[in-house]
Amino acid sequence: MSKAVLCAGRLYCDLIFTDTPRLPTLGTEVFAGGVSMRAGGGAFITAATLAAVGTRAAQFSILPAAPFGATVVAELTSHNVSTRLCTQAPPFADPQITVAMTCGKDRAFLTRAFGAAIPPFEPNMLSEFSHLHIGELSTLEENPTLVDIAHSCGLTVSLDCGWQDSFRPEVRDLIAAVDVFLPNQREVAALLEIGIPETCAELTVIKNGEDGARAGYRTEPGWVNEPTKPVTVLDATGAGDAFNGGFLSEWLKGSPLRDALRVANACGAATVQTIGGAGDPAAFAKPLAKEPGMQEHEG
Ligand SMILES: Nc1ncnc2c1ncn2[C@@H]1O[C@H](COP(=O)(O)OP(=O)(O)OP(=O)(O)O)[C@@H](O)[C@H]1O
Ligand SMILES: [Mg+2]
Repeated sequence: MSKAVLCAGRLYCDLIFTDTPRLPTLGTEVFAGGVSMRAGGGAFITAATLAAVGTRAAQFSILPAAPFGATVVAELTSHNVSTRLCTQAPPFADPQITVAMTCGKDRAFLTRAFGAAIPPFEPNMLSEFSHLHIGELSTLEENPTLVDIAHSCGLTVSLDCGWQDSFRPEVRDLIAAVDVFLPNQREVAALLEIGIPETCAELTVIKNGEDGARAGYRTEPGWVNEPTKPVTVLDATGAGDAFNGGFLSEWLKGSPLRDALRVANACGAATVQTIGGAGDPAAFAKPLAKEPGMQEHEG
């Protein structure tokens, strides 16, 4: 059996209020049409997508504090994402939750990120994994030795960027060390502004919403462009992280770059058509089955 992917990053419990007629303002109350409680965070959405497309995945995070941790563990388990390496929140931790309010096609978020994103990272926990995916650059900034430890244990490493209000120039060395860097177009533009080139990592994959994605190597000129068929967005949450799961599942099998981009685009498109970042695992199977022109390869 092939080895699994370890997905490290902040893990949230999302409280999602839907059908909100307007956003609340100070001194007013708004009644939502519905509410649901879901696991959230980029590492989880990538892990759930990997599992949905047939690549074993495990989460590496500190769980949100009680009572939210139990809900999150149940959801990860239902998506076939292992929680064996997750640890409990420390005593008196604030619950790490996001309140999301869906109003028309847009959403407002209120988030409490508390303490460390991940438990201490030990080489002896890595033997069953072939790859480490880091859900956001901020988690790598908090744990700058992650990439070296993973590489020394024979794992390849990928990194999503995640939005930050400002990026420090020092992140250039962190990005340069990973095997695959997966920012979106807006994040790449912000990094370029502080002098970090688009192809800083060995392989960079740039996501661009309904325009699809492109991939380029540091040492080879040019980009592989893969447009996609725009779909109507029901909920944009987690499109980029689902894209990562699709891309990595193919890249780890050694599939051609264009095929990996096609599967990734299909996973991103499937996610924007479902409510919640991780969506329904069955939703991934349909667009993937329809993709034309995919090359056959050994799984
Ligand atoms: N409207 C759409 N139609 C078709 N595919 C889409 C659409 N929106 C997103 N995608 C797919 O999802 C991928 C990722 O979307 P996007 O570029 O918005 O990532 P992102 O900004 O990182 O998302 P996130 O909000 O998860 O951080 C795109 O490259 C594309 O493949
Ligand atoms: Mg993103």
